[in-house]
Amino acid sequence: MKRIGLMGCGTVADYGHIPVILNTPGLTLHAVFDPDPQRLRFVQEKFGLANTYQDEASFFASGIDAVTVTSPAPCHLANIRAASRAGKHVLCEKPLGMTEDECREMIDCTARAGVMLFTGFDYRFSPAALQIRQWLRDGAIGDLRSLRLIYIWNCHGKRQRNDQGLLVENARRQGRMDEGGPMVDCGVHQIDLARFWTGSEVQSWTAAGAWVDEYDAPDHMYLHMQHDSGAHSMVEISYSYCHTCQQPVNVFTYDLIGTKGLIRYDRNAKILDMRNQDGVFTMPFAPEKNFAALYEHFRDALAQGGSDVLPTGLDGLMAAKISREATDALVAQCPRGSK
Ligand SMILES: NC(=O)c1ccc[n+]([C@@H]2O[C@H](COP(=O)([O-])OP(=O)(O)OC[C@H]3O[C@@H](n4cnc5c(N)ncnc54)[C@H](O)[C@@H]3O)[C@@H](O)[C@H]2O)c1
Repeated sequence: MKRIGLMGCGTVADYGHIPVILNTPGLTLHAVFDPDPQRLRFVQEKFGLANTYQDEASFFASGIDAVTVTSPAPCHLANIRAASRAGKHVLCEKPLGMTEDECREMIDCTARAGVMLFTGFDYRFSPAALQIRQWLRDGAIGDLRSLRLIYIWNCHGKRQRNDQGLLVENARRQGRMDEGGPMVDCGVHQIDLARFWTGSEVQSWTAAGAWVDEYDAPDHMYLHMQHDSGAHSMVEISYSYCHTCQQPVNVFTYDLIGTKGLIRYDRNAKILDMRNQDGVFTMPFAPEKNFAALYEHFRDALAQGGSDVLPTGLDGLMAAKISREATDALVAQCPRGSK
């Protein structure tokens, strides 16, 4: 049984990581850390957790084998430095770091400490993502030439009701925009999928963006990536698609075009199909996230001392680097950027 310590008891820990760790055979959630006592109390009561820490040293001394980092992205480097000093393996949420340099330091400090570092790109483990990769490997659509990956949504909306029922600015959304906006925060998943499905490194990229609202970073962005294989990927990400609407809608799709066919995934329509010269092949729909498989692979990596399957620190670095450089280039050009 491997004992996991979790750093950052916020939203994704609450709906994803904590329940999944608790349900993964071979793992136990031994300790959780958060500087916010309210968040600690919330998860302690909700999940019946015994060991909760506001003090990092006590958390690391509690007898854990590995940590999972689910704090906000600007805290990841400090958390990973501390885990390395304590000799603990790390599974870190995306985006791995705020910059390429931060990611390099994470890779270096974990390597020096002799501990493993993995990036929590859970989209890779969705049965839909794995089915798409299988179709590609089987040559079902011939040579993969074009990927169009779209996620446009309201990022929880511009305003939310506070305890008094008043509409106030949504601090969570503002935080995500301050950290770099939709491509840095969400688009890293799509960038990683493009690298995963093509099996090919990104050679060059260009970006375009729009400022729907008053943020430094563009809140609606397009990224065009050219892969070594010759394939092209387009990622479209928005945080301002209906962000002020009473009844928001969203779009989440993958389209992969090959020389002999097409693969489509549509989250809202619940479509996963492949069509080629032989007909249309429909597979059961699956959501885009799969934390359960992520933790099964993390458990196996801890048992075996390595993994051929889990996304690495370098995978996290590549997605963080591309998304950050693309966003920064737009901010530097745009009159609305750095107001
Ligand atoms: N894979 C996914 O699908 C997915 C979904 C949502 C968020 N995320 C990622 O997960 C991370 C957390 O996102 P969230 O939405 O849960 O954020 P959140 O703001 O809801 O929660 C973050 C928690 O971390 C705590 N925290 C603050 N400073 C800390 C520190 N120094 N060390 C440890 N904990 C600290 C906060 O008190 C809070 O409880 C981000 O990197 C985000 O991009 C991933």
